[in-house]
Amino acid sequence: QLSINPSSSRLLDPEEFRRQGHMMVDFLADYFQNIEKYPVRSQVEPGYLKKILPDSAPYKPEPIEKILEDVERDIFPGLTHWQSPNFFAYFPCTSSTAGIVGEMLSAGLNVVGFSWIASPAATELESIVMDWLGKMMNLPKTYLFSGGHGGGGVIQGTTCEAMLCTIVAAREQMLEKVGRENIEKLVVYASDQTHSSFEKAVKISGIKLENFRIIPTTKDTEFALDPKSLSRTIEQDIKSGFIPLFMCATIGTTSTTVVDPLKLLCEITKDYGIWVHVDAAYAGGACICPEFQHFLDGIENANSFSFNAHKWLFSNLDCCCLWVKDPSALTNALSTSPEYLRNKATDTEQVVDYKDWQLSLSRRFRALKLWLVLRSYGIDNLRNFIRSHVKMAKHFEQLVSIDERFEIVAPRNFSMVCFRVSPLALGNKQVNKFNMELLESINSCGNIHMTHALVGGVYMIRFAIAAPLTEYKHIDMAWEVICNHANAMLDV
Ligand code: PHE
Repeated sequence: QLSINPSSSRLLDPEEFRRQGHMMVDFLADYFQNIEKYPVRSQVEPGYLKKILPDSAPYKPEPIEKILEDVERDIFPGLTHWQSPNFFAYFPCTSSTAGIVGEMLSAGLNVVGFSWIASPAATELESIVMDWLGKMMNLPKTYLFSGGHGGGGVIQGTTCEAMLCTIVAAREQMLEKVGRENIEKLVVYASDQTHSSFEKAVKISGIKLENFRIIPTTKDTEFALDPKSLSRTIEQDIKSGFIPLFMCATIGTTSTTVVDPLKLLCEITKDYGIWVHVDAAYAGGACICPEFQHFLDGIENANSFSFNAHKWLFSNLDCCCLWVKDPSALTNALSTSPEYLRNKATDTEQVVDYKDWQLSLSRRFRALKLWLVLRSYGIDNLRNFIRSHVKMAKHFEQLVSIDERFEIVAPRNFSMVCFRVSPLALGNKQVNKFNMELLESINSCGNIHMTHALVGGVYMIRFAIAAPLTEYKHIDMAWEVICNHANAMLDV
């Protein structure tokens, strides 16, 4: 019989916090130890939880022991285990010990650093770690606080927010120049491989959706944005009286991790004063390694750059790092100054007030976790983690390539491999349909989890490596699972 500790009626009793905190750490440590025993992709049906949980909240307190039991019994079946070493779906959302304890620290302190005075360390640490990270990625000085050109970085939640903020910054800058009445003439550019968060940002920003030019990509450029097509589209728009505003280039697209030719694209946009945002949500993590930094060539001519440290830099959701060359474009568009937030540091313009660099007023102290990650592992180890993922991806690529029933369908740039069962192995079977069924068959067995993409009419299976517990043996096992399912379906 579990007894209810009376101190649980106190909201923040230090001893009870200690007890539950230790219990939670043990619970998670056990979870990581046993994570492989759960099906990677949840196998529940929609609505499963409503059937087993009560209709209303409990009137009386319940003990943590019981709640944790329910987590295991009721919640776990409905989890897709993103930290499982057998998770190869979407892009990774990487945890680490430093990332988790960093989250814990910031949750415990629970400060709200919207302005400098609201918690000076929250702002100052954020500016410092953003410069550290910018230097690690060899970003041009113009993006750094310490660069002396007015640039700087901010940590936001996700790429959707970063894109929306930068579009709105560019929009305001442009409308001030050309007059507000011209908002309907503003045009934005991206490729058909650009992430959907860009479309969402365009929708919210008040730019007409008809003025969103989605430039088709083709196999000839491996589905990268072709500078000639961009240039042609811009020229046409100008002839028709439109005003080119914004372009989103991608380093490592979601479907196949293609890299847009940033240098060439920026040479074009430069002449028209177009704001260029560089989205490296996943692949940005790799750019802490010198051998990947060439992908950012040309960024000196862009305006903003973002990547998700929660994707491939071990910093737990959420941690989208955004740098801008001209933060005043952001603050002009986003700042507010209600009387109740007025303070001397702000009035005398001595400080950064990050509320003016983002959508919401409130903000989490995310810099702490990034600081913990950077310090706990050091640049050297962080690079090695990335490199080990890339090596494992090369190994997987090799396994696929030597099996003639399979083929690689997009060049591997980072730690993601796109492959399928090749038409040659399928006779008169429909190739897309076969691969779709193969993927579903694998995902519903629960041993490993992968997702798909459809590019240029080709249905492909994506194998994305970087979950923090993945080792070579998991790659080999995954390949075995894939082969077994394919064999069964090919009647071998
Ligand atoms: N943004 C990813 C996608 O579109 C999904 C994702 C979110 C992956 C967060 C990792 C972390 O595929």
